[in-house]
Amino acid sequence: MLRDDLDSLLVDLRRHENTAEYYYKIRSAEPETLTSVQRASRLLYLNKTAYNGLWRVNRKGWHNVPFGRYKNPRIIDEDNLLGAHWLLQRARIKLADFSVVLETVRPGMFVYLDPPYYPLSKTSGFTSYTADSFSENDQCRLAEVFRQLDHSGCLIMLSNSDNQLIRELYKGYDIKVVMAKRAINCRADRRGPIAELVIRNYEL
Ligand SMILES: C[S@@+](CC[C@H](N)C(=O)[O-])C[C@H]1O[C@@H](n2cnc3c(N)ncnc32)[C@H](O)[C@@H]1O
Repeated sequence: MLRDDLDSLLVDLRRHENTAEYYYKIRSAEPETLTSVQRASRLLYLNKTAYNGLWRVNRKGWHNVPFGRYKNPRIIDEDNLLGAHWLLQRARIKLADFSVVLETVRPGMFVYLDPPYYPLSKTSGFTSYTADSFSENDQCRLAEVFRQLDHSGCLIMLSNSDNQLIRELYKGYDIKVVMAKRAINCRADRRGPIAELVIRNYEL
């Protein structure tokens, strides 16, 4: 909708209110009962007003993040939406398992892989944005795809959490530790910069 009908989307975004009562009404709306524009608008609204901007769902697939209580959330960032609208005219989006990338790559292409992070510990295990989680087996499959892309002559960059399994899976590639800002954690003392890995098959 952002690509195809920005004007209608902006009109719908303007009707949103920043109150808890309104937030929970929109959160519980059933997407099937909404128009495509209303669904897009609901997604952006929840992203801007939910606690920490988090998208998380319960087992049934329902968004269950509480109201963020922001004083002045930027529900309509018009310049940014316009920029995204422009860029999306030139992009192709495919909803599929990551392995399908192998069907379209050509030598010299740049591929950035941003998978759900492998949890640092069993209790910190936020790896699931949706009801389907990303397993250890998926991490291994992804490392195999990384190797195949490497053999196809692509330039590949992948980010993930810093832990033994990930370091093991990408042994032999360029592995750099970067400090990344992370606002999303239920424990305040675990927010802030944490070490993550950027893995590449090329050097700068
Ligand atoms: C760290 S997020 C990527 C965020 C994205 N780069 C962005 O900036 O919005 C990981 C994404 O991988 C997706 N994902 C999970 N399993 C997948 C799979 N088997 N194949 C492709 N994508 C998958 C998740 O739905 C999630 O959107």
